[in-house]
Amino acid sequence: MRKLIVAGNWKMNGTRQLAADMVHALKETSLPTDVSVVVFPPSILVGSFVDCSGCKTGIQNINSEPSGAYTGELSASMVKEAGCSYVLVGHSERRSLFGEQDDLVAAKVKAAVGNGLMPVLCVGETLEQREAGDYLAVIKSQVVLGLSRLSIAELEKVTLAYEPVWAIGTGRTATPEQAQNVHASVREVLAEEYSRKVADEMSILYGGSVNAKSAGALFAQPDIDGGLVGGASLKVNEFLTICSAAA
Ligand code: G3H
Repeated sequence: MRKLIVAGNWKMNGTRQLAADMVHALKETSLPTDVSVVVFPPSILVGSFVDCSGCKTGIQNINSEPSGAYTGELSASMVKEAGCSYVLVGHSERRSLFGEQDDLVAAKVKAAVGNGLMPVLCVGETLEQREAGDYLAVIKSQVVLGLSRLSIAELEKVTLAYEPVWAIGTGRTATPEQAQNVHASVREVLAEEYSRKVADEMSILYGGSVNAKSAGALFAQPDIDGGLVGGASLKVNEFLTICSAAA
């Protein structure tokens, strides 16, 4: 039985008031008990969430180094000490806007696990890669390289998120069939590289313009174990609806 997760990535959005409203709503709303809700607010708002009874808290980025002269950065151990459980790694915006490549992604995944954080490793193809037809190879490479520094035992701490770049923030959600095909293919990669047990137990989330309307059909797919939600996670009621759709 895989963990069902709905995660909200606020990116560089949100206010203290929105954080308070979301925490209150998550506390007061009876969401399905088998769905884990995770919120990734901007780092400066993490403190608003760490005592939230209805969700776990994540950070959107860490540095791979344990400490040192890295102005503006946060280490995995600091993030853990601040009360976070999860960290996003390899998000396409980190890859495209901040030049993060697979070796750095792998180092961050390792730093996360080594400090008791659960990484959500994000992978996904660009529109050009999809149209060129080699997108499954691109995604396989991101998965294998991203996990390459972990031992088999450490893999149980990892969640994957498939986020086609062409679907992020565009309103163009992958169809449930498109997403399911990729998720099933990623699961086969995990079985080939590691074991059937690892493949069967690792949660794989879908992200890319998920909203209250599209969530149900996406989450009903057999290999989709929840979602990584951007824009719609900033709307309290819509986010709660999406969380409920994962059960
Ligand atoms: O991390 C979340 C994804 O980038 C999806 O963002 O739901 O705004 O398309 P979006």
